[in-house]
Amino acid sequence: MSSHSPPSSGSTLSNRGAALAARPGARDEADILYSRNWDLVTNPEGVVNLGTAENRLILDDVAEFIAEKKIKFEGADFDYGEGPWGSLRLRTAMAKFINAHFHPHSHLSPSNLTVSSGCTSLLSTLALTLANPNDAILLSSPSYIGFPSDMSLLAGLQPIYVRFPSSVDQFTSPPDAVVAAYSAALKHASDTGVAVKILVLCNPHNPLGRCYTKEVLVGIMQFCDRHEIHLVVDEIYALSVYSTPSATDVPFTSVLAVDWAKYIDENHLHQLYGLSKDFACGGLRIGSLYTRNVELQCAVSSLSVLHHSGTIPSLLASTLLEDTAWHDSFFATSRERLGRAAAFAKELLDKAAIPYAPGANAGFFLWVDLRRWLGEKDGDGGDEWAREEALSARMATEKVFMIGGRAQGTEEAGWYRFIFSRSEVVVREGVNRLVRALNASPDRCNAPVSKSGD
Ligand SMILES: Cc1ncc(COP(=O)(O)O)c(C=O)c1O
Repeated sequence: MSSHSPPSSGSTLSNRGAALAARPGARDEADILYSRNWDLVTNPEGVVNLGTAENRLILDDVAEFIAEKKIKFEGADFDYGEGPWGSLRLRTAMAKFINAHFHPHSHLSPSNLTVSSGCTSLLSTLALTLANPNDAILLSSPSYIGFPSDMSLLAGLQPIYVRFPSSVDQFTSPPDAVVAAYSAALKHASDTGVAVKILVLCNPHNPLGRCYTKEVLVGIMQFCDRHEIHLVVDEIYALSVYSTPSATDVPFTSVLAVDWAKYIDENHLHQLYGLSKDFACGGLRIGSLYTRNVELQCAVSSLSVLHHSGTIPSLLASTLLEDTAWHDSFFATSRERLGRAAAFAKELLDKAAIPYAPGANAGFFLWVDLRRWLGEKDGDGGDEWAREEALSARMATEKVFMIGGRAQGTEEAGWYRFIFSRSEVVVREGVNRLVRALNASPDRCNAPVSKSGD
């Protein structure tokens, strides 16, 4: 046996390594997420990716802005910089940006910010520093797919999905009704011996594309305060709120815009922002944490050596955050394009008689209801989640990709997150492929679906 051969017992890894290697979502499955998108001319064999939450409508605007800046690099731009928690320039730019756009009740200071390589790494770090293994996080159902994995991969936390009765709208109902659902989940956890340490709120919400009223934010803060739960509010889509014809859209209110210290102990509120969504800069890997909890900030900073976002990305991020005159036109353009793209996607879905949850006015997504194409029990074999998987497989055959509800903590199978922040050509092609996948559903449930129109 060569000295480099793996032992015959199998894995050469630790138990932890072997478990990580076996996770769904490891390299092969992630290929679609990161593969080059379908393009009629340059990549006709590609997959139409309606799954990755990227705003492709403003990517070129960002590239042009950076090109126009004609940034001159110096030798020192390539060293380790001022520390892995973010240079003073970057933290100052981030604080000014949040002060200008989030209307905080009291102005943020750069000293309360920690910058890291994306909100993903901050979520992992918060999980490691705020809770012990097997403690739980409360998440509203459905929920951003990354929360449970980011907070369990290293920290070993478990998600508890909070379900809301159909009479309760978690965004706009009276706070008592919303909080009752969180209380029920908390009680169930404590009855089963599980300690809940963190509630993660996503505002604007991924995948529902909606914002919380100030009253609901206050109710949730008070609930967390009563139970000494850390409230982490992820506001990464804050400036991707667009207009719709509906008169009932709720505008974005940052948790920092509320006089929050009246409602929650200041050591228990933590806010996240990043450049991956509103600035379409997922590749820069920049996320920021605002907290006034000094002990937490020290703990997070200790770990930030593992999550340094790098001096060159930090320099580009500072450049993007500092140009206030450009922000006005850039965000107006972004909102206008998102609004148009959402309307276009709805028009195609309506034509194809594919329903979606009403009320979205933020983010890049619609919450699409494909339950009637799941097939009947026994018709397609297996339980409802197996039938959702089968539907995803039919989409894969048609080379269209969306993320299904199971990974997003839905109660019922058959819901998918539909990303519309793509060119009209891509969205139209995606809907046509989706229609083909739905029409290939098992005979018994094969409801007629018309083509969205070529
Ligand atoms: C709600 C939410 N938080 C965090 C992230 C990841 O952010 P980052 O790219 O900063 O790691 C995403 C990406 O989809 C997201 O939707």
